[in-house]
Amino acid sequence: MACYLVAPWPSILHFHLIFLFSMSILNLQPEICLSNNMGNVTDRISLLEFKAKIASDPFGILSSWNDSVNFCQWQGVICGPKHHRVVSLNLHGLSLSGTISSYTGNLTFLRVLNLSDNKFYGEIPQEVGRLFRLRHFYLKNNTLGGEIPINISFCSELRVISLAINRLVGEIPAELGSLKKLVALLLGSNNLQGKIPRSVGNLSSLQGFFVTYNHMEGNIPNELGQITSLTKLGVGANNLVGSIPSTLYNISSIVALSFADNQLHGRLPANIGLTLPNLQIFQIGVNQFHGSIPDSLTNASQLEIFDISSNRFTGQVPINLGDLNGLQRLNLERNFLGNNSSQDLAFITSLLNCSNLQKLYLADNNFGGVLPSTIANMSTLGDLGLGMNQISGRNKLKGNIPSSIAHCQNLHTLELGNNNLTGIIPQQILRLSFLSLVLNLSYNSLVGPLPKEVGQLKNIGALDVSESKLSGEIPESIGECLSLEFLYMVGNFLQGPIPSSLGSLRGLQQLDLSKNNLSGKIPKEIEKLPFLQYLNLSFNNLEGEVPTKGVFSSLMTVSLVGNKNLCGGIPELQLPACPKQKKHKKSPTAIILPTIFSSVVLFMTITSLTVFYWRKSKKSRKNPPSSPFILDKLLRISYKELLQATQGFSSENLLGQGSFSSVYRGSLDLHGEKIVAVKVLNLQQHGASKSFIAECRALVNVRHRNLVKVLTYCSSIDFKGNDFKALVLDFMANGSLEMWLHPKEDGNSWSRNLNLLQRLRVAIDLSFALHYLHDLCETPIIHCDLKPSNILLDNDMTAHVGDFGLARLLSKTTYTSSQGQTSSIGIKGTIGYMPPEYGIGSEATKDGDVYSFGIILLEIFTGRRPTDEVLTDGLNLHNFVRSKLPGQVMQVLDPKLIATREVGAKEIVEGKESDDGQTEIEEHNFDVENLISPGSNMQIVVSVLKIGLACSAEQPGDRMNMRDVTRKLNIITEAFFRARTL
Ligand SMILES: *[C@@H]1O[C@H](CO)[C@@H](O)[C@H](O)[C@H]1NC(C)=O
Ligand SMILES: *[C@@H]1O[C@H](CO)[C@@H](O)[C@H](O)[C@H]1NC(C)=O
Ligand SMILES: *[C@@H]1O[C@H](CO)[C@@H](O)[C@H](O)[C@H]1NC(C)=O
Repeated sequence: MACYLVAPWPSILHFHLIFLFSMSILNLQPEICLSNNMGNVTDRISLLEFKAKIASDPFGILSSWNDSVNFCQWQGVICGPKHHRVVSLNLHGLSLSGTISSYTGNLTFLRVLNLSDNKFYGEIPQEVGRLFRLRHFYLKNNTLGGEIPINISFCSELRVISLAINRLVGEIPAELGSLKKLVALLLGSNNLQGKIPRSVGNLSSLQGFFVTYNHMEGNIPNELGQITSLTKLGVGANNLVGSIPSTLYNISSIVALSFADNQLHGRLPANIGLTLPNLQIFQIGVNQFHGSIPDSLTNASQLEIFDISSNRFTGQVPINLGDLNGLQRLNLERNFLGNNSSQDLAFITSLLNCSNLQKLYLADNNFGGVLPSTIANMSTLGDLGLGMNQISGRNKLKGNIPSSIAHCQNLHTLELGNNNLTGIIPQQILRLSFLSLVLNLSYNSLVGPLPKEVGQLKNIGALDVSESKLSGEIPESIGECLSLEFLYMVGNFLQGPIPSSLGSLRGLQQLDLSKNNLSGKIPKEIEKLPFLQYLNLSFNNLEGEVPTKGVFSSLMTVSLVGNKNLCGGIPELQLPACPKQKKHKKSPTAIILPTIFSSVVLFMTITSLTVFYWRKSKKSRKNPPSSPFILDKLLRISYKELLQATQGFSSENLLGQGSFSSVYRGSLDLHGEKIVAVKVLNLQQHGASKSFIAECRALVNVRHRNLVKVLTYCSSIDFKGNDFKALVLDFMANGSLEMWLHPKEDGNSWSRNLNLLQRLRVAIDLSFALHYLHDLCETPIIHCDLKPSNILLDNDMTAHVGDFGLARLLSKTTYTSSQGQTSSIGIKGTIGYMPPEYGIGSEATKDGDVYSFGIILLEIFTGRRPTDEVLTDGLNLHNFVRSKLPGQVMQVLDPKLIATREVGAKEIVEGKESDDGQTEIEEHNFDVENLISPGSNMQIVVSVLKIGLACSAEQPGDRMNMRDVTRKLNIITEAFFRARTL
């Protein structure tokens, strides 16, 4: 007999359900064979009808379904031993596509119907209501639409209904409440709406109920509290309001509660840990809960995951939280915990008992005091998030880095950036040999040298000690960090030579040592680094000859400004020629031989190191491709690779088209498979080449969390021999701000909308990006074409400014000559966003960008484009808004900010969520919705609109600067948060 395939259960129900499932299969009671002999004929016909509705069967599974064998032997079919009727039809995960035949309802002996993980579409036939023996009904992970058939309430033997991850609409039928034997009802990730029916409370055997990622509204019914068998409840990512019914807290069998991402409020009951002694998972992130974390929590001794992030919790964290020694994840991020006092982090010491703690997130609270050195002994910690968020500026970690942190031997990432850390970098911290991803100590006040023990970070990928007060020399041992890809030491007091051992870092992609006091020559070894695509040595005291190969061969990849005594290099650098040296010349043969020899050695070294370097990716990656089409030695990626990555630049992968370029979605093997955006220049278009160079220059030399990141680029020839230029950028999963502000009503998804806080965040992100470009980059950059379609949103809805095709660099040093050229083509911004002075031939200025920013700010909150049709007769967006402020502000606001809320966020998770919603909810850190009414948030919006007006003033001199804009927006956001906690 065929063995039973068990469908991939939602992990959370795994054990219970496998148990039940096995029971139902093994205990096949002999059916009383009342069926006439025609019964098996009906089954055969029904199966053939089922097959007839399958449009695609790529594995040929149903080819066995023919008359050469009895239907009981057909793949996926199991018959009862006595009556030879179909008791199980299990075709899960076979990529079948088609509709579900209504004849399925004639398989009346069926106990198990499992069509999960296929591509069934259409509706679930009402005829399933005839399957009165059905116990297990699995249609998870298909693309079924329509409503949940009310008739399944006739299948009174049902134990499990799993319809998660489909496109079901409508309400949950109240009739389901009659299924007294139902153990699990799994409806997550659909488009269900309406209220959770009170009748669910009648499901007296129910253990698991999941309706995560839907559009459910209203309260969580009190009746759920009657289900005394309940162990797992997941209602996260809906639009639920009200509080958690207090009766739920009395169901002592409860193991997991997940309410994340709703609009729920209230306090946690003081005795929660006593009434829920079996609690393992508790997730209420992204709601409006307040109050303190009850001390009784430490009695819930099974607790593994505790996530209360993005709420309004206050007070101290229970000092003995570590009594919960099974804790794996603790997420307290984005609350108002702590009092900026020295005792705030005392609880960390108790967490030492938690020998399984892997993730600890404390960022964005009011925690003060010194980071306890005991944090160090958390041997299992993988992620430690203590950093401060730019928006809030709330954490105030001070003091030294505890040297004992070295004992955290499993830490992958240590982020301590943006704190007030002082003192020296302890040698011990550099002994974290497992630290394999990131060590970020930037933006602190660390002093002393970088210890030579840095060489022990053999696995580190990125090291950032920028913007501190480090002094002394860069240790030679840095060359031993063989996995290093990104090394940033910008803005310290480092002196002495650049160690030539950097030449050993074969994987290095970006090296920034700018703004130090480094002296001596540039080591020639650097030009040989095969992956290096960004080198910034500017503002040091370097001297002597600049190499010409590798990273030094293009202005797009190297920056050397602010070093007085450099000479040579490529002509574009415009450095003086080096004085002729009386060199002892070797004979030509003597040069060639060692070159060949060293090339061979080098090749071998590269090969072996590359294999080592890419060890994490599944496929072992080869060296940069050696296609004959490559012109430029520096290429990180070939035309061919991009061709493959985008499936031949197929129209399905086309994300958007502009005048100079088309952007494709692609999948590239950069440290493992990664989704990227490939921007291909339309070189036939006049100016496209210049635009490419402008963008490269602008982007290659900057990095900021609110700018789109360039991963690599390609400058080559396509297979037809035409010039081909492309930039590979970070893929922004949530598209452009344009798409969110003005969604196309194409009906294939619910309409997107941004809530007040999300809009505020976009505004702040944008202001940070511009402030950085204008005031913090060493070469100020004017974007020149800011508009919502150039502002992209990533997975977290963080905004990134992109499309630097018209950008201007304001440097007078390196780029003077070409600067003159690009200016002469004039600035062609976009109508509506372009400041009036550009129209009359003014040069690009920071004020020009500020104007565009101001217009965008008005657009974000009014939902109107500057070219909106209401703006006629000389009225523009600026005047329109100004005329209504402050008294009639409601008349200009985007109605979607006032009307009912839509969770645009859900679209993001479509297709990747599981029906337990666990992981997804955690990563799904969207803030609660925020609406505007005359009573609330009005002042906030008026203040923001005023900034928009001040930025979009007609006269450039009347506009604000980005530094002040950033500061003001921060103050407004703080006020907004404060108002919510009151
Ligand atoms: C149905 O059952 C009868 C007797 O029980 C048998 O003779 C016949 O071959 C079966 N038909 C099929 C299609 O299995
Ligand atoms: C089985 O189901 C179909 C459609 O639901 C129906 O038309 C048919 O009469 C039923 N009976 C048999 C014996 O096939
Ligand atoms: C859905 O099914 C596909 C196969 O059709 C599978 O690859 C994917 O992992 C499944 N997703 C979930 C969440 O189970």
